[in-house]
Amino acid sequence: MTLRSVIIGTGTALPARRVSNAELAQTVDTTDEWIVERTGIRFRHLAGPDETTSTLATDACRAALAAAGAEADDIDLIVLATATPDQTFPATATKVQAALGINVCVAFDVAAVCSGFLYALQVADSMIRVGAHRRALVIGAETFSRILDWEDRTTCVLFGDGAGAIVLEGQESDEATGRGILATRLHADGRHNELLYVDGGPSTTGTVGKLRMKGREVFRHAVVNLAEVMQETLAVVGLTSADVDWVVPHQANARILDATARKLGLAAERVVVTVDQHANTSAASVPLALDTAVRDGRIKQGDLLVLEAMGGGFTWGAAVVRF
Ligand code: COA
Repeated sequence: MTLRSVIIGTGTALPARRVSNAELAQTVDTTDEWIVERTGIRFRHLAGPDETTSTLATDACRAALAAAGAEADDIDLIVLATATPDQTFPATATKVQAALGINVCVAFDVAAVCSGFLYALQVADSMIRVGAHRRALVIGAETFSRILDWEDRTTCVLFGDGAGAIVLEGQESDEATGRGILATRLHADGRHNELLYVDGGPSTTGTVGKLRMKGREVFRHAVVNLAEVMQETLAVVGLTSADVDWVVPHQANARILDATARKLGLAAERVVVTVDQHANTSAASVPLALDTAVRDGRIKQGDLLVLEAMGGGFTWGAAVVRF
């Protein structure tokens, strides 16, 4: 037996306002046809004035706790991945902690943009496996609509807002067949900062700034990096893509999902796709996709999952999980 972090509950929250490509085309110089053909996106949810990263995250946590049959007081660690915190500080994780009424707990944010959830997962998993914590909320939550340049049609049609959360619990698990996070691998390459970034920040312009992206370049790197890191992470535990029941990818673009699956020889039916409904929700996209497939009955206990993501930095990573 070995101590592993087991996912015991998942939950999500989306802003009330759901915007179609056609609605977007009323104010942005674009068309439904262009967006669907190039990205697979049909809808995105956009936060209203009362919806923030922390309110969405808190709602997602409540849903995940309910699914786990756990109480907020059972949680002793909150790791929240975001690139769109409510404020520069305090950490949005502490706002979630306060909203959930957890008085004794470790809570902090992780910034790795679209890979943030994978980074947060490895951090929480490590803290659980060294015995420092027993139950964690791991959250990906974003309000990218607040950092989009709505005059730039090459980026503003691609992103949406939302939050996803999981409850991780340390459990003694059978080495060969047991549930839990089996392996994680993370990477970063700061030479590519200028391909995907925000042109502001507290220490540079003193403003929040807007998202800027060289989409084509990002696309090229994404397919190569994601296929490699999935294979690398599976190899850590002696598995291959043939063993995988479900890939739960970062939802940036349907064409990236297709190309990555092809590179790994994975059937398209094994890939959870939500980009059509949510667009790219950055750190929220992997837990949003995971919860969607858990709730609709596709992902079942015991299934072998590969979670993967890539984002600004670049940062990228993958996790192999026996659900
Ligand atoms: N509506 C209509 N036309 C648009 C448009 C829009 N929203 N955005 C761009 N175009 C136009 C461009 O102006 C260009 O026109 P031109 O040929 O007359 O100059 C044309 O469409 C092609 O633009 P291009 O940027 O070359 O398209 P593309 O095929 O590379 O697709 C992306 C653009 C952004 C969809 C694609 O590059 C992509 O998905 N990249 C990865 C982005 C990503 O996943 N980022 C997040 C990673 S975490």
